Amino acid sequence: MVTNNVRFGNVYETLGKDWFVAVIDRFYDKVETDDLLRRLYPQDLTESRDHMVKFLIQFWGGPTTYSDERGHPRLRMRHMPFEIGQAERDAWMKHMREAVQEGNLQAELEQQMLDYFERAATHTINTAS
Ligand code: HEM
Repeated sequence: MVTNNVRFGNVYETLGKDWFVAVIDRFYDKVETDDLLRRLYPQDLTESRDHMVKFLIQFWGGPTTYSDERGHPRLRMRHMPFEIGQAERDAWMKHMREAVQEGNLQAELEQQMLDYFERAATHTINTAS
């Protein structure tokens, strides 16, 4: 995990809370219009947005509010209730890639973040589709 490195320092401190709130807003706006993904998520996405923002802030070096409220992330386990195959993973990643790219990051930091999401998204696959 690279939340602190020589090139970017603490990513959360560099970008600030608002950047994470905005990227997740854009991401879930895209999920809302995606039939393949929308059926996996709850009707009301308010909590989904909130959990995701807190998780990412924690992951990228910010306050640990996510784990204080929800415990250890255990992302693979938390995704077990949802059938995630390659198609779902790829649809999810497409929206996240666009949401990140719309966030105007410095190129290397953008690549670092996309690499993380690519790996983590593959890790949530739990069914052969
Ligand atoms: C980089 C990859 C991913 C990360 C970091 C991530 C992160 C998260 C987090 C933090 C939560 C909330 C867990 C909680 O309740 O505390 C969540 C929930 C969820 N994720 Fe993911 N996820 C990833 C990939 C995926 C993929 C590929 C799918 C399926 C297409 C998916 C579908 C869902 C669904 C359906 C929920 C439950 C709805 C909700 O409570 O938000 N996730 N994810």
